Amino acid sequence: MNDTSLTLSAISAQLHTQRLGHCGHILSCTDSTNTQIKQRFCEQPEGFILLAEEQTSGRGRQGRTFVSPAGGLYLSLLLHPDLPFDKLSLLTPLAAVAVCQAVEQLCGLPPQIKWVNDVFLGNRKVCGILTESAFGQFAEKPDYSVVGIGVNLNLDRTAHPELAEIAGALADENILLPTRAQLAAAILNAFEPWYDQLLAGNGHELVQAYRNRLNCLHKPITVVSGDATYPAICTGLTDEGNLIVTDEHGQQSVLCSGEIRIRLE
Ligand code: BTN
Repeated sequence: MNDTSLTLSAISAQLHTQRLGHCGHILSCTDSTNTQIKQRFCEQPEGFILLAEEQTSGRGRQGRTFVSPAGGLYLSLLLHPDLPFDKLSLLTPLAAVAVCQAVEQLCGLPPQIKWVNDVFLGNRKVCGILTESAFGQFAEKPDYSVVGIGVNLNLDRTAHPELAEIAGALADENILLPTRAQLAAAILNAFEPWYDQLLAGNGHELVQAYRNRLNCLHKPITVVSGDATYPAICTGLTDEGNLIVTDEHGQQSVLCSGEIRIRLE
């Protein structure tokens, strides 16, 4: 691993954004950049970024661990979004689209999105996204949101055999690997225009871009929702980013949480 690029000035030099990514902090090792933003940096202005060389307790959706060894990109972006709750749930899809665009631009590869928050190359997950928001009592809009993005650039499968089957890394592909600073800047550059559209009340194009990248549309899936697990076909995506599924009896449901597995048939 000879990417020594992870400095704020290296990121800044490649940013085309107005607000995002121009101030921040880099930690060598921390538990979780999302946790640290919430504990120490949530008063910072919109666009503040916190990165870490490695995380010891990287967190994923549904209480899962996100294994975060040195070499990956671990980036949390602080926002103070003037967005109602129903639009706030589009921040994770927005980040997923931005990561896809950045990977496509820098690596020339076509990533896809596994609903709701994972970016895949082929059959392997290369990126996970965890968005968390804090609300004051009775508030309709959040005090802040943290969009946490973890990208596997390299993955030592011997050190992490538990990931061997599911996780991928950009270095698995036959490409010139971008530096972490390049990748961070490209993600933020792609993020800001979508975010501005969302703030302006227009999420339609974003949802369409997300829909176009989904890897499950019209495919057989297994839905895991609470205690229930059932086979279904993914039949669409609502304008709120919720998944439309049709079960074996033709019954349609809209999923706004939970998880799906794509069935290989
Ligand atoms: C998932 O796979 O369910 C989401 C993983 C999100 C990982 C990123 S890495 C930066 C930020 N800090 C964390 O602890 N989690 C997010």
